[in-house]
Amino acid sequence: MIDFRSDTVTMPDETMRDVMATAEVGDDVYGEDPLASRLETQIADLLGKEAGLFVSSGTQSNLIAMLTHASRGEEVLSGAQYHSLHYEAGGIAALGGVIPCPLPVNSDGSLNASDVEQAVKQDDYHYPVSRLLSLENTHNGLVQQKQTLQALCEIAHEKGLSTHLDGARLMNAVIATNVSAADYAQSFDSVSLCLSKGLGAPVGSVLVGSASFISRARRLRKMLGGGMRQVGMMAAAGLYAINHNVSRLKDDHMRAKTLAQGLNDISGIHVDMDSVQTNMVYMQVPEAMKSTLPERLMAGNIRISPAKKMFRLVVHKDIDDDGISAMLHQLASIMATA
Ligand SMILES: Cc1ncc(COP(=O)(O)O)c(C=O)c1O
Repeated sequence: MIDFRSDTVTMPDETMRDVMATAEVGDDVYGEDPLASRLETQIADLLGKEAGLFVSSGTQSNLIAMLTHASRGEEVLSGAQYHSLHYEAGGIAALGGVIPCPLPVNSDGSLNASDVEQAVKQDDYHYPVSRLLSLENTHNGLVQQKQTLQALCEIAHEKGLSTHLDGARLMNAVIATNVSAADYAQSFDSVSLCLSKGLGAPVGSVLVGSASFISRARRLRKMLGGGMRQVGMMAAAGLYAINHNVSRLKDDHMRAKTLAQGLNDISGIHVDMDSVQTNMVYMQVPEAMKSTLPERLMAGNIRISPAKKMFRLVVHKDIDDDGISAMLHQLASIMATA
């Protein structure tokens, strides 16, 4: 099965499984798991922050970050379609009484400075207190420029808000632009990085920030039931992922471009090449084909997610050149019979 649904579907390879099986472990809730501690320190260093916290998922990382920054009755400004507001089950409101303030997202994935500025509430008891600006890089595979992020963070900081970056796929942005992870992270008070997307670990994210922020975040992780015990087996996979699977993201990006170019050669299919910046390809097909395409590809052992407007195809370490060719070949024959 060639699975284009997401880069979360990658399987741990044999070497990763070996380092997991032989990992030295301890009880991390007592602070005694050596690899969890090493992973937290290494990711904090990578992102130029004082401390890190290993958590179960990107969702938990964003939730802990937002609830550490903002309290009940305070609000978080973020993009309406950003993952932390749109796809995380409303956790900040449901569990923390924190109010989401969704802002329009431009087609390049960015927010407008003027929207951020206008959304910050005055100090007036009619309004919730604006407490946090939460951004995302990459968003739908689109790289956010460091200067744009920095300008938005400056506005937030000037107005007394903290800033968080959902960097689930930040390393894809790093590889695509050669801007370092620490440079991207510099203007943010906290950053979340996922190990289980393009980096290929089976589970886990790391939240980083100042030592005092992470110490408050650690309490929240416990409160949310996220304190883990002999978690070194997972941390070993995370360390393996960050040490071995970052530079290979460029292969995913190149294959995504090859895929997009090949799709544009098929009559009836369209991909905007400017939108193919990392490992995601958004493909338009004739309306009449939308509902049946996933099923028809599945018959040839190719898996894609259903589409709302466009189909999202995600390239990752378990899709090689042959996988790209197989996809192009099958789509060409489906379109020929359409
Ligand atoms: C941008 C972004 N942030 C956060 C997450 C949440 O990660 P998880 O699925 O590990 O909870 C995802 C998941 O795909 C994501 O795409």
